Parts: sequence; C-alpha cells; structure tokens
Amino acid sequence: MNLIPQAEQLEREGIERIAAARTRDELEAARTALLGRKNGRLTALLAELPKLSADEKRAAGSALNKVKLLLEGCLAERDAELAALARQDAPRVDVTMPARARWRGAKHPVTIIIEEVEQIFRELGFTVALGPEAETEWYNFTALNFPPDHPAIDMHDTLYLSDDVLLRTHTSPVQIRTLQTYGAPVRILVPGNVYRRDFFDASHAPMFAQIEGLAVDEGISFVDLKATLTHFAQQLFGGTKTRFRPSYFPFTEPSAEMDVECTICHGSGCATCKGSGWMEILGSGMVHPEVLTASGVDAEKYTGWAFGMGPARMALARYGIPDIRALYDSDIRFLRQFAR
Ligand code: PHE
Repeated sequence: MNLIPQAEQLEREGIERIAAARTRDELEAARTALLGRKNGRLTALLAELPKLSADEKRAAGSALNKVKLLLEGCLAERDAELAALARQDAPRVDVTMPARARWRGAKHPVTIIIEEVEQIFRELGFTVALGPEAETEWYNFTALNFPPDHPAIDMHDTLYLSDDVLLRTHTSPVQIRTLQTYGAPVRILVPGNVYRRDFFDASHAPMFAQIEGLAVDEGISFVDLKATLTHFAQQLFGGTKTRFRPSYFPFTEPSAEMDVECTICHGSGCATCKGSGWMEILGSGMVHPEVLTASGVDAEKYTGWAFGMGPARMALARYGIPDIRALYDSDIRFLRQFAR
C-alpha cells in the first residue's frame, strides 16, 4: 500500500479549498475537514500508517507531515487575508468629524420661577393645589364677592365658553374650591394658567400663568401676610427691599400690592421699572369674610390672607426680558439661554 499519491491529492485539494474560503467561517470549516483531529482527511490517512512496512511507513509519514505543515501555513495565510479584507469593508470612521451636538432640554423661564416659588412656600408648610381652567361664573366671580356689575365680569375682559362657563380670569377660584373641599385650616399655593381678553402686546398676553397663595387658620393677621410675603421676596430676589401699597380687590379687605426694589437698577430707575425704581410683583390682602362664608368656612372663627402673582412678569424682571411675547414664541435661540 502506498499513501504518497493520497498525500499529494490531499495537498492539491487542500490548497484549493483553502484558497476558495471566502469567510473566516468557511476557512474554519476547511480546517476541520482537512486537519480536524476526529474526522479530518489527514487523520484518516495517518490511521493507515500501522498497516505499512517500516520503509513505507517512514516515507509516507514524512510526506503526510509535510502536507500537514504546508496546509497549516496556507490556513494561516488565508486567515490573515480574510481579516485584512474584513477591515477594509468595515464602515470607516472619520475621527476628525466634529461631534454631533447633543440636544438638552431646558425649562421655560416661567416654569423656573414657578418651581422656585413653590419651593419657598413648601418650606413654609404650603401644599400645591390645582383647579380647572374652565370655571363657572360663581367660582370665578360671585363666590369671590364680585358685585354683579363689576367691570371684570364684562365680556370685554372675560372669555366665555357658554352663558355660565368661562375661562378663569385668575387662580382665585381655587381658594373657594379648596376651602369647600378641605375646610380650614389650609395653606395652599396654586400655580395655573388664566385667560383674559387682552391684546397680545409687549406687556400683555391673553393667556398667562398666575400663582395664588392662601392661608386660612385661627388668629391669622396682616402681620402674617406681611412677614410671609417679605420673607418670600427676599428668598426669591435676594436681600431686596419691599414695600406694600394699599389696593383694592373684592375678595380681600384690606388689600395691598407688594413691590420689590427693581432688580435691574436697584432703585435708581430704569426702563424695566419705568423709572420708578420699584417693580410690582403681587396683589394680596386679608381674605374677605364673605369669601370664607361662601366657601362654608366659619368667618367668626377663621381669618386668612391671600395673594396672587404673575410669574411671567417676574421672569421678565429677573432675566431682563424686554417683551413678554418672547415667553410665548418657542424660539429655540431664546429658550436655550435658560438651559443649565
Ligand atoms: N386674583 C387677583 C388678580 O388676578 C390677585 C389676588 C389674589 C389679589 C389673591 C389678592 C389676593 O389680580
């Protein structure tokens, strides 16, 4: 028996098969078929060796060994070729390309103010409460002690959805709703949108945010109002001066408006404060006994104070924004200045 021709055949076919492998998987399959320990073709030939005479064995053994080394060399070479090809096909990365900018969301300046106000009042024991934007005349006006002929009820200021249902013109109706639901004592802060039939100009918008505050308890006095609102203004604007001016609202008695020293010019007078040195930031007052009574709260036992403020105006003042419409434009270039 002579294994030499078979060794030569294995060599020829092996070289062809290795060269034909077009992927590393195909190459692996070729390696197994040719040189695999269990069922490879070389193994099968080596198994024949014991049947040969000593001379034949030596010749065949060295021939088979040469084929093995040769095929191993071919496999390694083809493997390197395929690896190089794979690298060429891979999508190329341009490491000099500028990185894509990452989009970061930013809070709207009015939201920033609302959240800061909420935080200051939370620390004082107030709870955030909400109410509907579509209200009845009763909650929006009547229960708040507006006389039936009050000009604010007029169609010129109020957007009516039907004869009785309107878009709330302020967040004060939530005072009534909260007192009705929870009774006294309460301490609430109410952020929300309100609507008025105003022109849309540099200082007015037909829809804007308000923040209402209400504290009702036994023994609450004007001292609580003044102390709390002064503390609040100092927290929000930093050690600024404040002043109270007498005012009028149907649902508070007495009523007062609070001003803070202009944050832009610090009192010397500028365009933002229209030369006065002061910025009006909220209306406030002692809750009118009629309001407590309308809400089912005993006005002999309880007193309270309330305030309403406009966070948009406060955002204009704080950030020196000259036109309120910038807050509604959704212009990315404007909004991204508030990203932090
Ligand atoms: N609701 C009033 C307004 O919209 C503000 C206010 C609220 C005043 C609470 C006093 C007390 O102008």
